[in-house]
Amino acid sequence: MGEARGYFLSFEGGEGTGKSTQVERLHRRLGKSDIASRTTREPGGTKAGRQVREVLLHTNDESMRLSPMSEALLFGLDRLEHLEKVIRPALGEGRWVLCDRFADSTLAYQGYALGGDIKDIKALNALVVGKTQPDLTFVLDVAAEKSLERVRARDGELSYYDGKMIEFHEKIRAAFLEIAKDDPERCVVIDADAPEEKVAERIETICRERLGVKFP
Ligand code: TMP
Repeated sequence: MGEARGYFLSFEGGEGTGKSTQVERLHRRLGKSDIASRTTREPGGTKAGRQVREVLLHTNDESMRLSPMSEALLFGLDRLEHLEKVIRPALGEGRWVLCDRFADSTLAYQGYALGGDIKDIKALNALVVGKTQPDLTFVLDVAAEKSLERVRARDGELSYYDGKMIEFHEKIRAAFLEIAKDDPERCVVIDADAPEEKVAERIETICRERLGVKFP
């Protein structure tokens, strides 16, 4: 057996930017090229993580909300479990991992938007993630007003963060752009206001150019 390791790709961006749709589309596209991939998400990529997800996303009583750094630790706990139980095993089997949100979300939400200490959150992310940095991160970018409209038009319950005011979502958008600017080797900003099909094509092009994938 060789040492074949799959690629690790994360998809980041605000609410309603189409990350989950693009994760699924790329998964299907890779399948057609006989590349095995696994889709997953944060928070809640493991059984234990799904309980953490419930606490983080559906505690709407402000008096019960955690401080930004405590939230970051809880997202970090979810990520550590996810890395150990799902991400690293899949990569080790040679699969690609397509992850809907990863450590950049903690920096954007708990750091830049909620005011947690940026240096501490970067240190926490480094501790949790270790060497398993994504090979490539797609930052899906849409104007906050537009992405919020998409979220509010969805069926189903809004999460705590979905329910925040527009200013919060503008901060999130700016945070992801900043994160991408700081790490251009890993991050690619994608205009996600374009039609779904076009966004998918752009993502495929980047996979061809950066990872040498040959789509049929
Ligand atoms: P989603 O699965 O619909 O994207 O919801 C996840 C929510 O959790 C979203 O509002 C972003 C938020 N989040 C953080 O605040 N910090 C994190 O580290 C992660 C992974 C998600």
